Amino acid sequence: MEIGIIGSGNIGSTLAGYLTALGHQVMIANSRGPKSLGDIAAKTGATAVTTEAAAGAEDLIIIAIPNKAIVNLPKEILSASKATIVDAGNYYPSRDGQIDDIQGGLTDSEWVAK
Ligand SMILES: NC(=O)c1ccc[n+]([C@@H]2O[C@H](COP(=O)([O-])OP(=O)(O)OC[C@H]3O[C@@H](n4cnc5c(N)ncnc54)[C@H](OP(=O)(O)O)[C@@H]3O)[C@@H](O)[C@H]2O)c1
Repeated sequence: MEIGIIGSGNIGSTLAGYLTALGHQVMIANSRGPKSLGDIAAKTGATAVTTEAAAGAEDLIIIAIPNKAIVNLPKEILSASKATIVDAGNYYPSRDGQIDDIQGGLTDSEWVAK
């Protein structure tokens, strides 16, 4: 599969290593751009790309960033995508600030999808 991972921290970089080892074509992105991902690309075999390129992956997109950063993602590309999108995030008010929709009962992933 062609897989785009947005987020190259604990979750994103670990998944990149496992998924390339399984033979998938993996692209990985972070907030600082592909030039900052040299070590992770070398370690995992994933290709360092922009967030827009990772969001354009054909088959699977994994979002592994803090919830507070979700609003910065390329919404037009993600909403047009035919890929399955997996949200690995958890809402932590102490880290992410108050998100009224989630506090009001929307699940974390419903809010991300919205
Ligand atoms: N760690 C765990 O055990 C664990 C388990 C389950 C779920 N989670 C959840 O999974 C999510 C990620 O956790 P983590 O521990 O992997 O976080 P982390 O190590 O802090 O990494 C966060 C990553 O998100 C990237 N990022 C932030 N804003 C971005 C943006 N606008 N566009 C693209 N990339 C962006 C950061 O890029 P830069 O470095 O360039 O800023 C960084 O690579 C969180 O919601 C967390 O709660 C974590």
